[in-house]
Amino acid sequence: MRAVQISRFGGPEVFEIVEPPTPIPGHGQVLVRVRAVGVNLAETLMRQNRYAVTPELPAVLGNEVAGVIEALGAGVGGLAVGARVVAPLFAAGAFVGGYAEYVLIDADFVVPLPDTLSFEVATALMIQGLTALYLIKQIPPHGKTVLISAAAGGVGSLLLQLANRAGARAVIAAASTTAKLDFARSLGAHACVNYTWADWVEQTRAMSGGAGPDIIYESIGGAVTNASLKALAPLGQLVIYGALNIQSFQLGVPELLGLIFKNQSITGFAFAPLLTPGSLKTGLAELFDLAVRAQIKVTISKTFPLEHVAEAHRALEGRHTTGKLVLVP
Ligand SMILES: NC(=O)c1ccc[n+]([C@@H]2O[C@H](COP(=O)([O-])OP(=O)(O)OC[C@H]3O[C@@H](n4cnc5c(N)ncnc54)[C@H](OP(=O)(O)O)[C@@H]3O)[C@@H](O)[C@H]2O)c1
Repeated sequence: MRAVQISRFGGPEVFEIVEPPTPIPGHGQVLVRVRAVGVNLAETLMRQNRYAVTPELPAVLGNEVAGVIEALGAGVGGLAVGARVVAPLFAAGAFVGGYAEYVLIDADFVVPLPDTLSFEVATALMIQGLTALYLIKQIPPHGKTVLISAAAGGVGSLLLQLANRAGARAVIAAASTTAKLDFARSLGAHACVNYTWADWVEQTRAMSGGAGPDIIYESIGGAVTNASLKALAPLGQLVIYGALNIQSFQLGVPELLGLIFKNQSITGFAFAPLLTPGSLKTGLAELFDLAVRAQIKVTISKTFPLEHVAEAHRALEGRHTTGKLVLVP
Protein backbone atom coordinates (compact mmCIF):
# COMPACT_ATOMS: atom_id res chain seq x y z
CA MET A 1 0.00 0.00 0.00
CA ARG A 2 1.00 3.66 -0.25
CA ALA A 3 1.46 5.83 2.82
CA VAL A 4 3.05 9.18 3.62
CA GLN A 5 5.75 9.00 6.23
CA ILE A 6 8.13 11.31 8.05
CA SER A 7 11.50 9.99 9.13
CA ARG A 8 12.68 13.31 10.61
CA PHE A 9 10.96 16.34 12.12
CA GLY A 10 10.77 19.55 10.11
CA GLY A 11 8.86 21.53 7.49
CA PRO A 12 6.27 20.11 5.08
CA GLU A 13 9.14 18.90 2.86
CA VAL A 14 9.87 16.01 5.27
CA PHE A 15 6.93 13.96 3.95
CA GLU A 16 7.88 11.02 1.73
CA ILE A 17 5.76 8.41 -0.04
CA VAL A 18 6.53 4.88 1.13
CA GLU A 19 5.09 1.49 0.24
CA PRO A 20 4.87 -0.67 3.35
CA PRO A 21 3.06 -4.02 3.17
CA THR A 22 -0.72 -3.82 3.57
CA PRO A 23 -1.40 -4.80 7.19
CA ILE A 24 -3.29 -8.00 8.04
CA PRO A 25 -5.96 -7.75 10.74
CA GLY A 26 -5.19 -9.72 13.88
CA HIS A 27 -7.69 -11.03 16.43
CA GLY A 28 -10.35 -8.39 17.13
CA GLN A 29 -9.02 -6.02 14.47
CA VAL A 30 -10.53 -4.53 11.33
CA LEU A 31 -8.69 -3.50 8.15
CA VAL A 32 -10.18 -0.35 6.64
CA ARG A 33 -9.56 0.84 3.07
CA VAL A 34 -9.08 4.58 3.57
CA ARG A 35 -11.30 6.82 1.44
CA ALA A 36 -10.64 10.06 3.34
CA VAL A 37 -8.33 11.08 6.16
CA GLY A 38 -8.61 14.34 8.06
CA VAL A 39 -5.76 16.80 8.49
CA ASN A 40 -5.58 18.62 11.82
CA LEU A 41 -3.47 21.48 13.09
CA ALA A 42 -2.07 19.11 15.73
CA GLU A 43 -0.38 17.09 12.94
CA THR A 44 1.44 20.16 11.66
CA LEU A 45 2.81 20.58 15.19
CA MET A 46 3.62 16.86 15.46
CA ARG A 47 5.52 17.05 12.16
CA GLN A 48 7.73 19.74 13.73
CA ASN A 49 7.97 17.96 17.09
CA ARG A 50 6.10 20.86 18.71
CA TYR A 51 3.14 18.78 19.92
CA ALA A 52 2.52 17.48 23.43
CA VAL A 53 3.24 13.96 22.15
CA THR A 54 6.41 13.13 20.21
CA PRO A 55 5.72 10.39 17.65
CA GLU A 56 8.28 7.63 17.24
CA LEU A 57 10.06 7.92 13.87
CA PRO A 58 9.52 6.93 11.16
CA ALA A 59 5.86 7.88 11.54
CA VAL A 60 2.79 7.98 9.33
CA LEU A 61 0.81 10.92 10.76
CA GLY A 62 -2.99 11.24 10.74
CA ASN A 63 -5.44 9.59 13.08
CA GLU A 64 -9.00 10.05 11.80
CA VAL A 65 -10.07 7.95 8.85
CA ALA A 66 -13.28 7.23 6.96
CA GLY A 67 -13.50 4.31 4.56
CA VAL A 68 -14.75 0.85 3.81
CA ILE A 69 -14.10 -2.38 5.69
CA GLU A 70 -11.67 -4.46 3.64
CA ALA A 71 -11.12 -7.44 5.97
CA LEU A 72 -12.04 -8.65 9.46
CA GLY A 73 -9.74 -10.35 11.94
CA ALA A 74 -10.75 -13.44 13.89
CA GLY A 75 -13.34 -12.87 16.60
CA VAL A 76 -14.90 -9.74 15.08
CA GLY A 77 -18.70 -9.81 15.06
CA GLY A 78 -21.34 -7.30 14.02
CA LEU A 79 -19.29 -5.76 11.21
CA ALA A 80 -19.23 -6.72 7.53
CA VAL A 81 -16.71 -6.42 4.72
CA GLY A 82 -17.77 -3.56 2.42
CA ALA A 83 -19.48 -1.53 5.18
CA ARG A 84 -18.89 2.24 5.25
CA VAL A 85 -17.32 3.18 8.57
CA VAL A 86 -15.14 5.64 10.39
CA ALA A 87 -11.93 4.55 12.05
CA PRO A 88 -11.13 7.06 14.79
CA LEU A 89 -7.57 5.91 15.49
CA PHE A 90 -7.21 8.68 18.11
CA ALA A 91 -9.91 7.02 20.22
CA ALA A 92 -8.00 3.77 20.15
CA GLY A 93 -5.00 5.65 21.58
CA ALA A 94 -3.09 5.99 18.30
CA PHE A 95 -1.65 9.37 17.30
CA VAL A 96 -0.43 8.05 13.96
CA GLY A 97 -1.18 5.74 11.03
CA GLY A 98 -3.86 7.60 9.04
CA TYR A 99 -2.10 9.11 6.00
CA ALA A 100 -2.21 5.76 4.21
CA GLU A 101 -4.31 3.59 1.91
CA TYR A 102 -5.21 1.11 4.67
CA VAL A 103 -5.41 1.29 8.46
CA LEU A 104 -5.89 -1.31 11.16
CA ILE A 105 -8.14 -0.55 14.11
CA ASP A 106 -9.54 -2.44 17.05
CA ALA A 107 -13.15 -3.42 16.16
CA ASP A 108 -14.47 -1.79 19.37
CA PHE A 109 -13.71 1.65 17.93
CA VAL A 110 -15.22 1.20 14.47
CA VAL A 111 -18.38 3.30 13.99
CA PRO A 112 -20.85 2.90 11.08
CA LEU A 113 -21.15 5.81 8.67
CA PRO A 114 -24.63 6.72 7.33
CA ASP A 115 -24.96 6.25 3.54
CA THR A 116 -25.87 9.89 3.03
CA LEU A 117 -22.72 11.28 4.67
CA SER A 118 -19.60 11.58 2.54
CA PHE A 119 -16.29 10.19 3.74
CA GLU A 120 -14.87 13.73 3.67
CA VAL A 121 -17.62 15.15 5.89
CA ALA A 122 -17.17 12.22 8.27
CA THR A 123 -13.53 13.19 8.85
CA ALA A 124 -14.62 16.70 9.88
CA LEU A 125 -16.90 15.27 12.53
CA MET A 126 -14.30 13.17 14.29
CA ILE A 127 -11.58 15.15 16.11
CA GLN A 128 -12.95 18.58 15.26
CA GLY A 129 -16.62 17.64 15.64
CA LEU A 130 -16.11 15.81 18.92
CA THR A 131 -13.99 18.66 20.27
CA ALA A 132 -16.77 21.14 19.51
CA LEU A 133 -19.46 18.82 20.91
CA TYR A 134 -17.59 18.12 24.13
CA LEU A 135 -16.71 21.79 24.60
CA ILE A 136 -20.43 22.58 24.51
CA LYS A 137 -21.24 19.76 26.92
CA GLN A 138 -18.44 20.58 29.39
CA ILE A 139 -18.82 24.36 29.30
CA PRO A 140 -22.46 25.00 28.27
CA PRO A 141 -23.08 28.33 26.52
CA HIS A 142 -26.82 28.46 27.27
CA GLY A 143 -27.92 32.05 27.91
CA LYS A 144 -24.35 33.36 27.63
CA THR A 145 -22.49 35.59 25.23
CA VAL A 146 -19.57 33.58 23.89
CA LEU A 147 -16.53 34.41 21.80
CA ILE A 148 -14.90 31.75 19.61
CA SER A 149 -11.35 32.20 18.32
CA ALA A 150 -10.37 30.75 14.91
CA ALA A 151 -14.13 30.70 14.34
CA ALA A 152 -13.81 29.84 10.63
CA GLY A 153 -11.56 26.85 11.30
CA GLY A 154 -12.39 23.18 11.60
CA VAL A 155 -13.30 23.19 15.30
CA GLY A 156 -14.44 26.83 15.30
CA SER A 157 -16.98 26.54 12.47
CA LEU A 158 -18.69 23.61 14.20
CA LEU A 159 -18.42 25.08 17.69
CA LEU A 160 -20.10 28.25 16.50
CA GLN A 161 -23.10 26.32 15.19
CA LEU A 162 -23.34 24.03 18.22
CA ALA A 163 -23.17 27.03 20.57
CA ASN A 164 -26.13 28.57 18.76
CA ARG A 165 -28.04 25.30 18.94
CA ALA A 166 -27.26 25.05 22.65
CA GLY A 167 -28.92 28.40 23.30
CA ALA A 168 -26.05 30.87 23.48
CA ARG A 169 -27.42 34.41 23.87
CA ALA A 170 -24.94 35.65 21.27
CA VAL A 171 -21.97 34.15 19.44
CA ILE A 172 -19.07 36.44 18.55
CA ALA A 173 -16.75 35.00 15.92
CA ALA A 174 -13.09 36.00 16.01
CA ALA A 175 -10.74 35.37 13.07
CA SER A 176 -7.94 37.01 11.10
CA THR A 177 -9.58 38.05 7.81
CA THR A 178 -12.78 39.63 6.56
CA ALA A 179 -13.46 36.59 4.35
CA LYS A 180 -13.23 34.26 7.35
CA LEU A 181 -15.52 36.50 9.38
CA ASP A 182 -18.05 36.61 6.53
CA PHE A 183 -17.95 32.81 6.45
CA ALA A 184 -18.53 32.70 10.23
CA ARG A 185 -21.45 35.09 9.86
CA SER A 186 -22.96 32.81 7.20
CA LEU A 187 -22.86 30.00 9.78
CA GLY A 188 -24.79 32.03 12.32
CA ALA A 189 -22.33 34.29 14.17
CA HIS A 190 -24.18 37.30 15.58
CA ALA A 191 -21.11 39.54 15.58
CA CYS A 192 -17.58 39.30 14.24
CA VAL A 193 -14.23 40.69 15.30
CA ASN A 194 -10.83 40.57 13.65
CA TYR A 195 -8.26 39.80 16.35
CA THR A 196 -5.41 41.12 14.25
CA TRP A 197 -6.78 44.63 14.82
CA ALA A 198 -5.28 46.62 17.68
CA ASP A 199 -8.64 47.57 19.21
CA TRP A 200 -10.31 44.16 19.04
CA VAL A 201 -10.69 43.92 22.83
CA GLU A 202 -12.62 47.20 22.95
CA GLN A 203 -14.69 46.14 19.92
CA THR A 204 -15.50 42.83 21.60
CA ARG A 205 -16.63 44.56 24.78
CA ALA A 206 -18.81 46.93 22.76
CA MET A 207 -20.37 43.94 20.94
CA SER A 208 -21.26 42.32 24.24
CA GLY A 209 -23.06 45.14 25.97
CA GLY A 210 -19.88 46.67 27.40
CA ALA A 211 -19.12 43.84 29.83
CA GLY A 212 -17.36 41.39 27.50
CA PRO A 213 -18.15 37.75 26.64
CA ASP A 214 -19.17 35.39 29.46
CA ILE A 215 -17.26 32.52 27.85
CA ILE A 216 -14.29 32.65 25.50
CA TYR A 217 -13.39 29.39 23.75
CA GLU A 218 -9.71 30.07 22.94
CA SER A 219 -7.29 28.02 20.82
CA ILE A 220 -4.67 30.47 19.58
CA GLY A 221 -2.59 31.23 22.66
CA GLY A 222 0.00 33.95 23.23
CA ALA A 223 -1.19 37.52 22.73
CA VAL A 224 -4.71 36.36 21.81
CA THR A 225 -5.07 34.57 25.17
CA ASN A 226 -3.80 37.62 27.05
CA ALA A 227 -6.16 39.91 25.15
CA SER A 228 -9.02 37.45 25.71
CA LEU A 229 -8.52 37.77 29.46
CA LYS A 230 -8.83 41.53 29.09
CA ALA A 231 -12.03 41.17 27.05
CA LEU A 232 -13.68 38.63 29.41
CA ALA A 233 -16.73 39.68 31.45
CA PRO A 234 -16.68 39.67 35.27
CA LEU A 235 -17.55 36.11 36.41
CA GLY A 236 -16.47 35.00 32.92
CA GLN A 237 -14.72 31.79 31.91
CA LEU A 238 -11.74 31.58 29.57
CA VAL A 239 -11.58 28.08 28.11
CA ILE A 240 -8.17 27.18 26.70
CA TYR A 241 -8.34 24.21 24.36
CA GLY A 242 -5.46 24.88 21.95
CA ALA A 243 -1.76 25.12 22.58
CA LEU A 244 -0.59 26.69 19.33
CA ASN A 245 1.44 29.48 20.96
CA ILE A 246 1.48 28.14 24.50
CA GLN A 247 5.08 29.21 25.14
CA SER A 248 4.25 32.88 24.67
CA PHE A 249 1.35 33.05 27.12
CA GLN A 250 2.36 34.31 30.56
CA LEU A 251 0.04 34.28 33.54
CA GLY A 252 1.61 36.86 35.86
CA VAL A 253 0.55 38.81 38.93
CA PRO A 254 -1.59 41.39 37.03
CA GLU A 255 -3.53 38.61 35.28
CA LEU A 256 -4.03 36.69 38.54
CA LEU A 257 -5.21 39.82 40.34
CA GLY A 258 -7.59 40.47 37.46
CA LEU A 259 -8.99 36.94 37.82
CA ILE A 260 -9.46 37.37 41.58
CA PHE A 261 -11.12 40.75 41.52
CA LYS A 262 -13.34 39.94 38.56
CA ASN A 263 -14.26 36.46 39.84
CA GLN A 264 -13.12 34.94 36.57
CA SER A 265 -11.77 31.50 35.83
CA ILE A 266 -9.49 29.82 33.34
CA THR A 267 -10.43 26.29 32.32
CA GLY A 268 -8.32 23.83 30.38
CA PHE A 269 -10.04 21.47 27.98
CA ALA A 270 -9.09 18.37 25.99
CA PHE A 271 -11.68 16.01 24.53
CA ALA A 272 -9.58 12.85 24.31
CA PRO A 273 -9.41 12.10 28.06
CA LEU A 274 -13.21 12.39 28.20
CA LEU A 275 -13.76 9.71 25.54
CA THR A 276 -14.82 6.15 26.25
CA PRO A 277 -15.79 3.64 23.52
CA GLY A 278 -19.45 4.28 24.47
CA SER A 279 -19.27 8.07 24.49
CA LEU A 280 -17.30 8.02 21.24
CA LYS A 281 -20.14 6.17 19.54
CA THR A 282 -22.92 8.32 21.00
CA GLY A 283 -20.98 11.51 20.25
CA LEU A 284 -20.34 10.55 16.64
CA ALA A 285 -23.94 9.33 16.22
CA GLU A 286 -25.18 12.73 17.47
CA LEU A 287 -22.90 14.62 15.07
CA PHE A 288 -23.69 12.34 12.11
CA ASP A 289 -27.40 12.77 12.77
CA LEU A 290 -27.10 16.57 12.89
CA ALA A 291 -25.15 16.57 9.61
CA VAL A 292 -27.55 14.15 7.87
CA ARG A 293 -30.51 16.33 8.88
CA ALA A 294 -28.61 19.45 7.71
CA GLN A 295 -28.84 20.88 11.24
CA ILE A 296 -25.15 21.72 11.06
CA LYS A 297 -23.18 22.72 7.99
CA VAL A 298 -19.90 20.91 7.54
CA THR A 299 -17.49 22.77 5.27
CA ILE A 300 -14.71 21.00 3.43
CA SER A 301 -12.04 23.60 2.74
CA LYS A 302 -10.15 21.49 0.23
CA THR A 303 -9.40 17.89 -0.65
CA PHE A 304 -5.84 16.87 -1.55
CA PRO A 305 -4.47 13.62 -2.97
CA LEU A 306 -2.37 11.78 -0.40
CA GLU A 307 0.88 12.68 -2.14
CA HIS A 308 0.04 16.40 -1.84
CA VAL A 309 0.02 16.28 1.95
CA ALA A 310 2.79 18.91 2.16
CA GLU A 311 0.53 21.36 0.34
CA ALA A 312 -2.28 20.60 2.79
CA HIS A 313 0.01 21.26 5.77
CA ARG A 314 1.23 24.52 4.18
CA ALA A 315 -2.36 25.67 3.69
CA LEU A 316 -3.24 24.97 7.32
CA GLU A 317 -0.10 26.56 8.73
CA GLY A 318 -0.50 29.54 6.41
CA ARG A 319 -4.00 30.15 7.84
CA HIS A 320 -5.48 29.77 4.36
CA THR A 321 -8.29 27.34 5.23
CA THR A 322 -11.88 27.52 6.41
CA GLY A 323 -13.48 24.34 7.74
CA LYS A 324 -11.89 20.95 7.13
CA LEU A 325 -8.86 19.81 5.12
CA VAL A 326 -8.97 16.26 3.81
CA LEU A 327 -6.53 13.86 2.14
CA VAL A 328 -7.88 11.30 -0.30
CA PRO A 329 -5.63 8.30 -1.03
N1 LIG B 1 -8.20 20.40 23.22
C1 LIG B 1 -8.64 19.54 22.32
O1 LIG B 1 -9.19 18.50 22.65
C2 LIG B 1 -8.47 19.88 20.86
C3 LIG B 1 -8.92 19.00 19.88
C4 LIG B 1 -8.81 19.37 18.55
C5 LIG B 1 -8.20 20.59 18.20
N2 LIG B 1 -7.74 21.38 19.19
C6 LIG B 1 -7.12 22.67 18.88
O2 LIG B 1 -8.10 23.45 18.27
C7 LIG B 1 -7.48 24.40 17.43
C8 LIG B 1 -8.15 24.38 16.07
O3 LIG B 1 -7.77 23.17 15.42
P1 LIG B 1 -8.27 22.86 13.95
O4 LIG B 1 -7.65 21.56 13.57
O5 LIG B 1 -9.73 23.03 13.90
O6 LIG B 1 -7.55 24.00 13.10
P2 LIG B 1 -8.23 25.18 12.28
O7 LIG B 1 -8.98 26.04 13.23
O8 LIG B 1 -8.95 24.61 11.12
O9 LIG B 1 -7.00 25.98 11.71
C9 LIG B 1 -6.22 26.75 12.55
C10 LIG B 1 -6.67 28.22 12.58
O10 LIG B 1 -6.03 28.81 13.70
C11 LIG B 1 -5.75 30.15 13.41
N3 LIG B 1 -4.34 30.45 13.67
C12 LIG B 1 -3.89 31.47 14.41
N4 LIG B 1 -2.56 31.48 14.46
C13 LIG B 1 -2.14 30.45 13.70
C14 LIG B 1 -0.86 29.96 13.35
N5 LIG B 1 0.27 30.50 13.82
N6 LIG B 1 -0.78 28.87 12.56
C15 LIG B 1 -1.90 28.27 12.11
N7 LIG B 1 -3.14 28.69 12.42
C16 LIG B 1 -3.26 29.78 13.20
C17 LIG B 1 -6.09 30.38 11.95
O11 LIG B 1 -7.34 31.05 11.90
P3 LIG B 1 -7.30 32.66 11.83
O12 LIG B 1 -6.52 32.99 10.59
O13 LIG B 1 -8.71 33.06 11.74
O14 LIG B 1 -6.61 33.12 13.07
C18 LIG B 1 -6.21 29.00 11.37
O15 LIG B 1 -7.06 28.95 10.26
C19 LIG B 1 -6.00 24.03 17.39
O16 LIG B 1 -5.31 24.88 18.30
C20 LIG B 1 -5.99 22.62 17.86
O17 LIG B 1 -4.75 22.25 18.44
C21 LIG B 1 -7.86 21.05 20.50
